[in-house]
This record gives sequence, structure tokens and C-alpha cells, in this order.
Amino acid sequence: MNPTRIIIDTDPGVDDALTFLLALASPEIKLEALTTVRGNVTVEMATRNALSILEVANASHIPVAQGCSLPLVSELSVSGEAVHGQSGIGKATLPEPKSKVVAQHAIDSLIERIVAEPDEITLFTIGPMTNLALAIRKEPRIVSALKGLVIMGGAIRQGGNVTPLAEFNIHADPHAAHIVFHSGIPMTLIPLDVTYKCLLTSADVEQLNKIDSPIARFVSDATATYMDFYRRYEGFDGCALHDPLTLATIIAPELLTFEEHHVDVDISGGVSMGNTFADFMNVSKKPANMKVALDVRGREFVELFVERMESLCVRLSEAKHLPHHKRDSAVATDAPSHRPDAPSGE
Ligand code: RIB
Ligand code: CA
Repeated sequence: MNPTRIIIDTDPGVDDALTFLLALASPEIKLEALTTVRGNVTVEMATRNALSILEVANASHIPVAQGCSLPLVSELSVSGEAVHGQSGIGKATLPEPKSKVVAQHAIDSLIERIVAEPDEITLFTIGPMTNLALAIRKEPRIVSALKGLVIMGGAIRQGGNVTPLAEFNIHADPHAAHIVFHSGIPMTLIPLDVTYKCLLTSADVEQLNKIDSPIARFVSDATATYMDFYRRYEGFDGCALHDPLTLATIIAPELLTFEEHHVDVDISGGVSMGNTFADFMNVSKKPANMKVALDVRGREFVELFVERMESLCVRLSEAKHLPHHKRDSAVATDAPSHRPDAPSGE
């Protein structure tokens, strides 16, 4: 089966970084490009982090395009520093990247790549949706050209993580989310309702670090700040795999439970700014505009994540002994299939 071709729009960010690694470790996925946006950190920092993380994963052949440095309307009110550290990648330290960002702006890169190959690319937005919203306004054909859109964002029945009613990615640019939610793109929402059920624990990280690998060390160092934050402020040992869970829509969709609803976002500017709400009773009589993940077998997803990280560590150490020209393709090959209920030979 051909891998799903994806672009990730991102604000790395610790869990963003873990998402890149999971994509590279998953043969079901072909990561075509990264586009960066201001969110957890400035867009310059996000871009540097994206280039560096690809480098440590031996994937510098994947292009990175820099995007918007500010939300559409309201100034970013909350930074992600407390969770992701000043660097955006926790306590991990990565060398200055050797590879360079592409000259094209992220908006133009998204438009060009997606419109050039209609129904081929699935976009994953795991930060504020500023780039996508402006791409829709600049080139409306992107709406019909996208094969699909998977959004990490929102909180439906779950409370918010940046205000009591709003999740960070949506709250950081609610007007962008409003444009996207009303665009008509076939979309799937992965909200806090399910991501908080996917907690990577310190025991999982210790398990991974039994492998002597720069990837295992990166995961440990990057999640350290994240774990401290959750221990101190949310009272549990672990960090939520918010962004990586979006990839379960490709690598393990059987772990997710979806419902179709009309979902909207509050841009009225009051106390519930950025609140995302589903019309469960269909009182608005509006058609559903997205699939919403409202339950997940979270521990199974975390175990799949750790398995894929372990296989990535092994493959990268094997790749180190290959001649340079063979290394890029050695990253994501035959990861163990997770699908216990999948027909054999899938
Ligand atoms: O609310 C979780 C989201 O906010 C994730 O994308 C995380 O990276 C932060 O950006
Ligand atoms: Ca993110």
C-alpha cells in the first residue's frame, strides 16, 4: 500500500518534534515537507528547531519553509515556554542546523505543493493555523486540492489548557481556526479530549533509553521540561502526546473513536475566546463539518509510539554504517506493523 503523503504545519515544540520522529519511523507515511508557524516559540525558533530535529533524525532532505510570525488578529497572549522551555525543545540541545530553510514562504509552499498535486497531500496542522488560513484566502483552490486535513487542536467536552475554555493552538489564532473550520476542507479534529489520554511516562522514556541512541537521548531531554510541567501543574507523571496522536489517523486509526459534528470556534473576544464547541444536538441544523476524535485507546497508542521510536533508533544506528548516499532512505522502512486486528499481509 502506498504511504500517505503528508505535510506538517508546526510550531516545534516538544510534542511537535516527537511527531516528526514518529512520521519518519512510520512506513505508512511519507513526510514531504514541514512548514513553520509562531506558536510555542517564535517562528524563527520553530524553524531552527525543525531543521535541527530533521538533522538529528538523518532527514535533512525534507524541506522546511518558514511561515507567519504573528496570528491574524490578536497578539499571541500565551507563550509555550513553560511547557516547552525557552528553546522550544525542553532540555535538549541540538547543534545549529547545517541545512537551510527554503526561500519560499510557508503559505506559498503549501499552495504550490498542494495545488500542484490535487488529492495527493494530507496536511497536518499541529500549531496555530495562521499559515493555512492565509493560504485559503490567497488561493481558494487549496480547499478542493487537499486530500485531507488533520488538526491537533480544540477541546470539546474537555476543559481548555490555556484558558478554562480554550486549547492552545486554537486560542493562539482563533480567527485562523474560524476560517479553516468554515472552509469546507474534509477535516479531522484531534482535541484535548483524546490527547490527554495518551501520556508518555518517565518509565516509557527510561525504556526507550535502554537503547544508546541520539534519538532516545533527544526524547528524554526534550520531554524533561514537559514532564516537570505536568508533574507540577497537572499532578501526573507524564506528558501528553498531543501532536503525535494526529498520526494515529494513518498508522492506527482503529485506536480512535470518531463522531461527525458541526464544530465552531468562538471569536467573539470574550472570556470564551477560542472555545471550540460541537453541536451534539444539531440544533443549528448545520451539516457536520468535521470528524472529531472523542475517545482513544491511549495506552496502546503510547506503546506504539515507544515501539516506533525504538525501531527508529535501531534503523538510524544501522544507517550510520551505510555509505552517505544510502542513508536518507534508511530512516523509515519496515517498522513493525501495529495493527493486531489488521488482516495479515496488510
Ligand atoms: O494544546 C496542545 C498544542 O499546543 C500542541 O500542539 C502543543 O505543541 C502546543 O502547540
Ligand atoms: Ca504544536
